[in-house]
Amino acid sequence: MKRGAFTMRLKVVLTWKRVAGLAVIGIAGALLVGWSGLVSIAASSGHFAVTRWYLGWTMENAVETQSMLIVKPKDLNLDDPALVRRSAGHYATGCAACHGAPGVPQSPVVKEMTPAPPRLEEKVNEWSDEELFWMVKNGIKYSGMPAWPAQERDDEVWAQVAFLRALPEMTRTEYAELALGGGLADNDLEPGGETTAALDGIFENALADCVRCHGRDGLGRGEGDAEDAFPIIAGQPAPYLYATLRAFALGRRDSGFMEPPASRYPSEVLEELARYFADQPVPLERAGDAAVLGPEAEVPNLAVDPVDDAPVVDAGLASDAMETFLMPLDTPQDEAGVLEGAGDLAYAEIPLTASAGPPSTREDVLELGQRIAVEGFGQRKVPACQSCHSPAGRERNPLYPYLAGQPEWYLSKHLRLWKESRRGGTRFAHVMDEIARNLTEEQIEAVSAWYSSLAKAKP
Ligand code: HEC
Ligand code: HEC
Ligand code: HEC
Repeated sequence: MKRGAFTMRLKVVLTWKRVAGLAVIGIAGALLVGWSGLVSIAASSGHFAVTRWYLGWTMENAVETQSMLIVKPKDLNLDDPALVRRSAGHYATGCAACHGAPGVPQSPVVKEMTPAPPRLEEKVNEWSDEELFWMVKNGIKYSGMPAWPAQERDDEVWAQVAFLRALPEMTRTEYAELALGGGLADNDLEPGGETTAALDGIFENALADCVRCHGRDGLGRGEGDAEDAFPIIAGQPAPYLYATLRAFALGRRDSGFMEPPASRYPSEVLEELARYFADQPVPLERAGDAAVLGPEAEVPNLAVDPVDDAPVVDAGLASDAMETFLMPLDTPQDEAGVLEGAGDLAYAEIPLTASAGPPSTREDVLELGQRIAVEGFGQRKVPACQSCHSPAGRERNPLYPYLAGQPEWYLSKHLRLWKESRRGGTRFAHVMDEIARNLTEEQIEAVSAWYSSLAKAKP
């Protein structure tokens, strides 16, 4: 057929006025449709097939494009059992409610969401590591999929990605052991994930929540390769633990793992938890070698409870009196981050790295670390770490935590966060700002290696 015969020629001259007019009509139309109240927003009716396809396609393209600039840290190993362990407990309370988990059915409630959250063990293999990272960090708008609570903590998001990678192979028993504190493997797991029974604020329930990650002894759950998944909280001064929990709850210290549990309980319960963990003994092989730590340093466990011994004895950690006690002490060493007196002379003599260039062997690294911890560097305004982090330091101020035996990743991560001014913490956290900024990357690694090596040192 000759097409020309039927062609009706429509000649439209585009002018700015007409384009603007069309835009106005478009906007007015959209407002009218919105105003009419007839748009289907009912989750019950789902989407038309074509809408579902379009939204899914748009989402996949967006994730693919926007994750292109994400670079995996080069020392990251997503098969690391410690990363899987660290993020498993968070999956149980932060994700399983929507996505289910091994042995945990999805609740009938979330199945009625539009879009419904998929079971992730069936989905994760469709995405690259970077794409999973992007979704877990940023969340997905208009779907209910939340963003990571601590945007500063990419290390935590990567740990969650490691967990997602392990998910397809994970059995129900493994999941219960990793995420729910064990002992539940034979029970039927409740649809919708771990219920935080502790919402009623009963101490035992709150403790059971912490124990899923930190263990009843505060030494952190996990054995073998996953042994160092969590920082040790046993035997830290109660005021430090309490003030730290409050800092998480108030968003003054960022952690997607800790902000939710710290916000779940009222301050009186946090106070009780702080006292409980402060009272847990640190076994000698976790606490380090007294000889290495110096004469005053026995075991970095608290011999005297600073709360009970302080003038504010009966006031309690959460009281007003305690808040005053937690205010920065007006001492020069705290403000400047540099101790006066003891140690000053020693600083001047210390070279910045071990005698012959950067340390090469593990022994050199540990030696440099020990020197920083025990003597500091005068020229770089790095006071001896032990001046605050030893038992004597903690007696002076119970907001100075001990470091001996903490996992290496934890120490170096937090020093780097301070270096980038992103750590936050209690009212005293600022004293670490300058100290961390004055440390080189090499020194951070050395001092972290030394403190964590103390855990394994023979008493
Ligand atoms: C309130 C419910 C909810 C919570 C809590 C939640 N998600 Fe989601 N998630 C969703 C929904 C809904 C989608 C589907 C989004 C879509 O298809 O557009 C989704 C999608 C995803 C996807 C992409 C899966 C795919 O193939 O579509 C991943 C990965 C994911 N979530 C991981 C997580 C992780 C990890 C957590 C916990 C840190 C979490 N989600 C917490 C609701 C939730
Ligand atoms: C889902 C796992 C998980 C749960 C549940 C959990 N924690 Fe933690 N906790 C962590 C991780 C991981 C860190 C390290 C955070 C960081 O790197 O900043 C941490 C850090 C802490 C710290 C700071 C340690 C330090 O040396 O500064 C305290 C204190 C703490 N947790 C106490 C608790 C208490 C009390 C509970 C129960 C209410 C609890 N945690 C529940 C995983 C958890
Ligand atoms: C003037 C006292 C002081 C000195 C000196 C000091 N620190 Fe600290 N440090 C603190 C305080 C206070 C905190 C607790 C901050 C908070 O979380 O509120 C802390 C916390 C830390 C933490 C985090 C511990 C945890 O459990 O989260 C690390 C790691 C650390 N310091 C390393 C060092 C190193 C390494 C040195 C030596 C180079 C050093 N500190 C010297 C006062 C000091």
